[in-house]
Amino acid sequence: MTRGLLLSFEGGEASGKSVQARRLVASLHDRGTDVLLVREPGGTPAGERIREILLHARDVALTPEAQALLFMAARAQLVRDVVRPALARGAVVVADRYFDSTLAYQGFAGGADLDGLRELTRFAVGPTVPDRTFLLDVPVDVVVERSRARAADRPWDRFEERERAFHERLRDGYLRLAAAEPRRFVVVPGDRDEAEIAREILREVDALLATPA
Ligand code: TYD
Repeated sequence: MTRGLLLSFEGGEASGKSVQARRLVASLHDRGTDVLLVREPGGTPAGERIREILLHARDVALTPEAQALLFMAARAQLVRDVVRPALARGAVVVADRYFDSTLAYQGFAGGADLDGLRELTRFAVGPTVPDRTFLLDVPVDVVVERSRARAADRPWDRFEERERAFHERLRDGYLRLAAAEPRRFVVVPGDRDEAEIAREILREVDALLATPA
């Protein structure tokens, strides 16, 4: 049995983090590791409903503060219903976005008060903080180009029609979060071959799994 491990994937729009989260889950699963992928917002019935309002309800105006509260509500439910029980049985939980997304999107990029968001994070997740957070870091030019290509074949999403300045604040915010917690964050340059990135992440996770709890 592996020890319970919480890993989160973070990054801006079209950073490739979801692809990498899925690849890691597949690699661990193939080896017989008890592994679970959760996505934010979502992952519980309440979370999926909240996701609909947050992402797809075009007619619902939401300030960054209101967005943060909804993301945190979904997160509080997910942590208690899904994440903690899985960690308790020794599973590896891979989160496609977690609380750093709220700090980066609603805080650094959206302008919501960061201290308030940190308090809210403690309230929502308590001690359930990732053992490692992989930040897929991609230059803003690449983000803008990839997002444009992606938006064409997807339904409307509140967070995808953002101007360049937003993507810049977002990237800068993520890098600040990483610099403030260098032991938790691994910054992964994301503008590279997918398979190579996946190998790098798997090596890091293997090292973590080999370390006694
Ligand atoms: P998602 O479907 O996860 O797409 P992707 O992660 O591939 O961009 O969409 C989630 C969107 O919600 C994304 O634009 C980021 C945003 N978001 C926040 O603004 N704050 C949060 O706390 C979270 C979890 C997501």
